[in-house]
Amino acid sequence: MSRTGRGAVATAHSNIALIKYWGKRDARLAIPSTSSLSLTLDVFPTTTRVAFDDALETDTVQLDGAPMPPRAAARVSDFLDLVRERAGITTAARVVTENAVPTGAGLASSASGFAALAGAASTAAGLDLDTRELSRLARRGSGSASRSVFGGLVQWNAGTGDADSYAEPVPSGDLSLAMIVVVVNAAEKAVSSRDGMRRTVETSPFYEPWVSRSADDLAQMRRAIADADLASVCEIAESNAMGMHGTMLGARPPFSYWEPASLAVMGVVRALRDRGVVCGFTMDAGPNVKIICSPSDVATVTAALDDAVPGAERIVAGPGPGLLIREDAS
Ligand code: ADP
Ligand code: DP6
Ligand code: CO
Repeated sequence: MSRTGRGAVATAHSNIALIKYWGKRDARLAIPSTSSLSLTLDVFPTTTRVAFDDALETDTVQLDGAPMPPRAAARVSDFLDLVRERAGITTAARVVTENAVPTGAGLASSASGFAALAGAASTAAGLDLDTRELSRLARRGSGSASRSVFGGLVQWNAGTGDADSYAEPVPSGDLSLAMIVVVVNAAEKAVSSRDGMRRTVETSPFYEPWVSRSADDLAQMRRAIADADLASVCEIAESNAMGMHGTMLGARPPFSYWEPASLAVMGVVRALRDRGVVCGFTMDAGPNVKIICSPSDVATVTAALDDAVPGAERIVAGPGPGLLIREDAS
């Protein structure tokens, strides 16, 4: 069956985990070893248009105005195959995507990218999926994308298989939180998240202890959120992230995403804490550091960064919206 139609466009924002996803139990289905919890941001959107078109022989994928590199384009086509199979079509698609987020820099472009693609492709294919189904679908493109389907605080339940591995919103209660993204280096990383976590799972003796600790971290994080206890949110997030980075040092061969400026930013956070400012940091698969603090302390944190790492760009973010899908009028 074929489908040539109007197409659809979707926007999703990147998300940063406070309790990390790092490693899969089932790579084909993207079932993670641990549940995770993140904040969808109000910065770094991806907007993606998809149109299935009988006139096309193969999928074409454009990222930020240029053809997407072959490996990344193949990953998009593999994802479109899942959508086509579900919709019962074989038509090729034209995909045009724009990342406001730097691609492959540890700022979660795969999360915003595959959440937006899941929304646009499924709608363009004539599927009408609810948010849970969209989260399950986005997960197959990139695990973290399952969480960008929802806004604000979001938990991805690891689950045991395709049906029960999806994200859902977490009530934020009275907790208000800001995230200052310190861009140490926006270049594409040498080791992708996918390859990095695979190597860690396969070779690091530090991986299993981090996984067994993770369920407790998540339970404590849920309690800290419910109590609007920002100091505990920061402490748990920082420990969980540092543990994840520790697993990479144990891999064979070992690797690390840290750069000297990442350490300088961590030092700023520790010094602020010594002065009584409630804050913490988290880091993903890249050198950039995300500082968690109260919105009322953003100016204080920014001033401290000015002194210690004057060159680094900073983006102040807060809780952002979930996936938005619309018919493509263009
Ligand atoms: P990041 O930290 O940016 O999430 P990853 O290594 O997880 O880094 O993922 C980067 C990969 O995500 C890219 O190489 C590409 O395959 C995919 N990606 C990024 N943006 C998009 C997009 N807008 N649409 C489809 N795929 C994307
Ligand atoms: C460190 O979701 O990018 O950002 O599922 O292989 O696409 P794939 O990996 P990805 O991994 C994200 C890892 C992380 C932590 C997190 O976002 O939870
Ligand atoms: Co990613």
